[in-house]
Amino acid sequence: MVKKMAAEWRGTWALVTGASSGIGVALARELAAGGTHLVLTARRKDRLDELAKELATKHRVMTEAFTADLADSHAPEKIFDFTKQKGLEINLLINNAGFGQYGEFPSIEKQRLLDMVQVNCAAVVHLTHLFNLRGDQSLRSPVRRRTGRRNEVFRNPCLCLVSGLDRIGISCCLRPEKI
Ligand SMILES: NC(=O)c1ccc[n+]([C@@H]2O[C@H](COP(=O)([O-])OP(=O)(O)OC[C@H]3O[C@@H](n4cnc5c(N)ncnc54)[C@H](OP(=O)(O)O)[C@@H]3O)[C@@H](O)[C@H]2O)c1
Repeated sequence: MVKKMAAEWRGTWALVTGASSGIGVALARELAAGGTHLVLTARRKDRLDELAKELATKHRVMTEAFTADLADSHAPEKIFDFTKQKGLEINLLINNAGFGQYGEFPSIEKQRLLDMVQVNCAAVVHLTHLFNLRGDQSLRSPVRRRTGRRNEVFRNPCLCLVSGLDRIGISCCLRPEKI
């Protein structure tokens, strides 16, 4: 599916959050191989810069790296402003950045939990709104805008907290032993 998706986005710009490791790096590599230009964002600048350079050289796509901490509620606007200043039209937003935390709820540091909600949920909603994209349930339900280009959001499963699966999300948080 990823290979097919990558080919569909050839010549357009995608923004990948959490592009410094794991799934984000893998998706960025697949998209670049399919000819998609990339804005890569995460906190670790060295990794972003290295990946941006590697993909631009290997696949001859345009790449930009932008460092941002999504636990900061202003980060989505900073990312959005960066793309505007560069004159980039983002057609695909991959809300991949996020993290989880194992352990009993009361034992987890409060700030860690609040950061998790900010990064995994609030930032996803904020970025999606800023880029004026629609979070469709399925990648097979593209949104066509006036430009005729397809614009989509590929979202982190954690967005279930704000997309109708809230009871599952909350019970996962409060009663992990029952899941
Ligand atoms: N792997 C799984 O089995 C699994 C299961 C369920 C859900 N997920 C979700 O899928 C996504 C990718 O998983 P993964 O396994 O690839 O995780 P990963 O290797 O830990 O990568 C997480 C990415 O998110 C970025 N990130 C974390 N906190 C951030 C912050 N405060 N601001 C900006 N970027 C931040 C990290 O970059 P920096 O540290 O450089 O900022 C990193 O690039 C995550 O959202 C994860 O929660 C994964």
